[in-house]
Amino acid sequence: MQLTAWVNGHFLPFEQATVHIEDRGFQFADGVYEVLACFSGRFVDLMPHLQRLERSCAAIEIDLPKSLDEIAALVSEAYHRNPFKHAMVYIQVTRGVAPRSHLIPQGLTPTLVITVRELPMPSKEKLEHGVSAITMPDIRWKRCDIKSIALLASVIGKQEASRRGADEGFWLDEQGHLLEGCATNCFAVINGTLVTHPLDHQVLGGITRDMALRLATAHGISVEERPWKLTEAGLTECLMSSTTNAVMPVCHIDGDMVGDGNPGPVTIRLRELILEEIEALKSE
Ligand code: PDD
Repeated sequence: MQLTAWVNGHFLPFEQATVHIEDRGFQFADGVYEVLACFSGRFVDLMPHLQRLERSCAAIEIDLPKSLDEIAALVSEAYHRNPFKHAMVYIQVTRGVAPRSHLIPQGLTPTLVITVRELPMPSKEKLEHGVSAITMPDIRWKRCDIKSIALLASVIGKQEASRRGADEGFWLDEQGHLLEGCATNCFAVINGTLVTHPLDHQVLGGITRDMALRLATAHGISVEERPWKLTEAGLTECLMSSTTNAVMPVCHIDGDMVGDGNPGPVTIRLRELILEEIEALKSE
């Protein structure tokens, strides 16, 4: 079965699914996106993702071209038109096509693109031993709460992490607090409490972050949303969360072991809780 994408109001074979060269997404990164996971036809937190898409659009004054229910139906159809059991669905909304000008032209029709790929699964090796990260000064803009397609800083950060043999790069604020990763939210376990940076303009409100905090609280793991540093006494675990990773143990940062260098009990428990929730979805 060949790949099919939704673009400009139609489902098309991938090779024909193209966007105009004067699309403002192409020229200005004037758009927003979402990445969703689908296991055996069941989407994880579909509506929270679409509501975040709506919030991102509102923040940059794009009127979503369709209602959330219509987009949900298209996302589901896109999944079914493609050959993957477990899929990653990408939704992108840009302001539309217009001659290049910084000022926003009136009356544009936003471009909506939906693509489907096989869901990348974290390797057994990474789950068992954890991944590694580096830290870097945050060079991004001041609206990281918007899921903007302008990802150049994240591309540079991820490339630098890879160059230094690491899997992810974590952004630091000027005081050395860990904000989030290039494509993940990050957490520590400090004296048994799950700690992550509060939601503000420096971090994306991750859907998996929400799920992790909700499940932790529901299962008796204490949770604190506050700025934190790697040097804090009592820090025994680090982990990161995203749609494609669920939660992943981070066992080495800047070449140093986190705790004893192995995935810790809170991370392992949280991952189990998330996977149980996904399993339950599949049997609904
Ligand atoms: N990235 N922070 C940033 C900067 C991200 O790009 C992402 C997601 C997250 C985690 O959000 P969520 O749990 O909703 O996936 C946090 C996606 C997966 C990406 O760009 O591919």
